[in-house]
Amino acid sequence: MTLSDTPQIAQIEREVFSDPWSERSLGYLCGGGSAVGAVIDDGVIVAAYGGMEYAADEAHITNIAVRPEYRRRGYAAAVMRFLEEFAKSRGAERAILDVRPSNTPAVSLYTKLGYVPAGIVPHGYSHPSENALVMVKKLTEGPSGWKDGQ
Ligand SMILES: CC(C)(COP(=O)(O)OP(=O)(O)OC[C@H]1O[C@@H](n2cnc3c(N)ncnc32)[C@H](O)[C@@H]1OP(=O)(O)O)[C@@H](O)C(=O)NCCC(=O)NCCS
Repeated sequence: MTLSDTPQIAQIEREVFSDPWSERSLGYLCGGGSAVGAVIDDGVIVAAYGGMEYAADEAHITNIAVRPEYRRRGYAAAVMRFLEEFAKSRGAERAILDVRPSNTPAVSLYTKLGYVPAGIVPHGYSHPSENALVMVKKLTEGPSGWKDGQ
């Protein structure tokens, strides 16, 4: 993800999420440091994107979305796998994310990729209010980290 992608991504965020990231917030994923963003594009249209921040041995997937007309082509899974490999290369042992339990496509995606439920944050989402389901995936076979969500 580069800064030139952020206007398109901010537009997708507004169309898809009730609490969208702004262009400025998305810039955080393009600035290096401890965050990174990835896109799938054809040079003009961003079809899919995802963001992640990482610190110490943990990576946090911050957002992921695919334009409606490009869904069910494996793009989200590809973005997730790229972010996981990037996290591993930076020393992360586990990836963590949160999702609305009612978001069946997203919960199915994460489950297929090996994420397991690790907890609930009551009223973790607003607009509309909903609990947040925390899911986690162990990325390495290191000595520490989560195993089977524990
Ligand atoms: C969730 C989302 C990112 C999935 O993107 P996608 O590119 O269509 O997903 P993929 O094609 O990579 O699908 C991978 C797997 O996820 C699951 N999945 C994806 N969409 C699904 C759906 N509508 N219903 C059920 N399972 C689904 C399936 O297991 C799928 O594997 P399969 O196609 O072999 O059955 C997309 O629907 C989206 O952008 N939703 C709106 C934004 C959003 O909710 N983001 C997540 C916030 S936590």
